[in-house]
Amino acid sequence: MSASVVADPPAPAGAPPPPEQEIRALGRSLDAAFPSAARRPVHAAERALAAPLSDRPELRAALFRLVDVAPACRTPTELGEHLDAFLAELPAHERAAGLALHLTGGRGGHALSGRAAAVAVARMARFFIAGEDPAAALPALARLWSGGVASSLDLLGEATVTAAEADRYAARCDDALVQLAQAVRAWPARPLLERDFAGRLPRANLSVKVTALTPLIREAAPEIGREDAARRLRPLLRRARELGAHLHVDMESIASRELIVGLVLGLLAEDEFRDGPDAGIVLQAYLTDSDELLREVLEWAARTERATPLTVRLVKGAYWDHELVEARQRGWTPPVHATKADTDRSFERLTRALLAARPAVRVAIASHNLRSIAHAIVCNRRSGRPDTDLELQVLRGLGDDLHHALAAHRLRVRSYCPVGDLVSGMAYLVRRLLENTANDSFLAARADGADLDRLLRAP
Ligand code: FAD
Ligand code: 2OP
Repeated sequence: MSASVVADPPAPAGAPPPPEQEIRALGRSLDAAFPSAARRPVHAAERALAAPLSDRPELRAALFRLVDVAPACRTPTELGEHLDAFLAELPAHERAAGLALHLTGGRGGHALSGRAAAVAVARMARFFIAGEDPAAALPALARLWSGGVASSLDLLGEATVTAAEADRYAARCDDALVQLAQAVRAWPARPLLERDFAGRLPRANLSVKVTALTPLIREAAPEIGREDAARRLRPLLRRARELGAHLHVDMESIASRELIVGLVLGLLAEDEFRDGPDAGIVLQAYLTDSDELLREVLEWAARTERATPLTVRLVKGAYWDHELVEARQRGWTPPVHATKADTDRSFERLTRALLAARPAVRVAIASHNLRSIAHAIVCNRRSGRPDTDLELQVLRGLGDDLHHALAAHRLRVRSYCPVGDLVSGMAYLVRRLLENTANDSFLAARADGADLDRLLRAP
């Protein structure tokens, strides 16, 4: 990517920003509805997430390498052995207080053995991962639903390296759709979660990653991976339609973005998928060209007649560190904003543009940042629409208090619940660690006791 020298076309328009005092009042009201810390024991992983990693380059580098090696590990013990090796390579001061501390939340002064490190990772995984497989996660999803919270089951797995692995991932997705669709039939009615301006909202909702559906991701030749992934995604779309389920395609690093956008918009525009399934894509506000992608999606929506609108999940982006490292290595201008405030401003601008684009799209705002969320809710209310016309999304583990607060305000919220084993979840766990130990992270700042009014200010 290189810096653009011509002026960008104007961003898709939205309403002007709403009054600041309304956003802050709602942010404070949501915060007050968080379950009391006294009633919920602070989890070790939450404490671990609060300590800053940002000024510890060796530790961050070790985490990146761990993610690279994780897919090649066959058992947690093997993964533990790699952890052990990485810890041994860290400088002494990091080894003492470093990875072990972060993964256990303990105060120990020694690097853990491979086995102990694997146990520590497993503890952290239980905080974020709903179960080893969909069957194990279903009771948790049913409890969420009973408490007024919808879910999206996410099958952990990404960056597959063989066709056989990609076939297995597709088979797991198919199986998950069948199990979910069967289970949700027994769930009680929750009218708040089941209908919006465009009609019925499926109870069964599955999130998938395209880099798990093809080993052929080539940044310079996206069409190769697109065709290969389409062979596996098409049957999943058919299955979701047959079962009345929603299929959401996550967004990953910039290297796969063109492929993912082309794949999803291409398939959903086919005659075969005109009547369904309900489906969605993700927009990442940290990308400096996110306005362009939004424009492309809205133009697609305007010319593609589908029975239900595409859901656009707006996120900030989970690959910020990765994008910086990649761009630096290649001597490119990073594709992501350089400051957190730029990303936050982009998120708010895209929120307003997406809300104004309804009914062409459904909007899902995915964030744990009370400012970003309150801004979206106030904008939706000022557009004259009911709260049910906006979906809010959180990640399991990190967003549990928040989903309680949102449900208590009778807002429509969905929890993204990863499912899988430790090895397939390693990259996901490390992304959560990296983003939530950054100095700028909303959750880390809140855990450190930062003043709420300061955090609720306009970025
Ligand atoms: P905040 O603390 O407000 O924001 C943190 C984010 O700000 C970082 O993740 C990064 O994007 C950005 N940031 C941090 N530091 C800087 C900096 N110095 N300069 C510029 N930007 C910076 N992410 C994906 O990429 N793809 C997905 O498909 C996806 N799905 C998600 C689904 C759900 C339900 C949720 C809740 C999140 C999802 N995410 C996804 C993760 C998301 O992109 C964020 O990483 C995460 O939610 C943290 O952002 P925040 O608004 O909660 O917190
Ligand atoms: C991730 O896998 C949540 O899709 C996001 O990090």
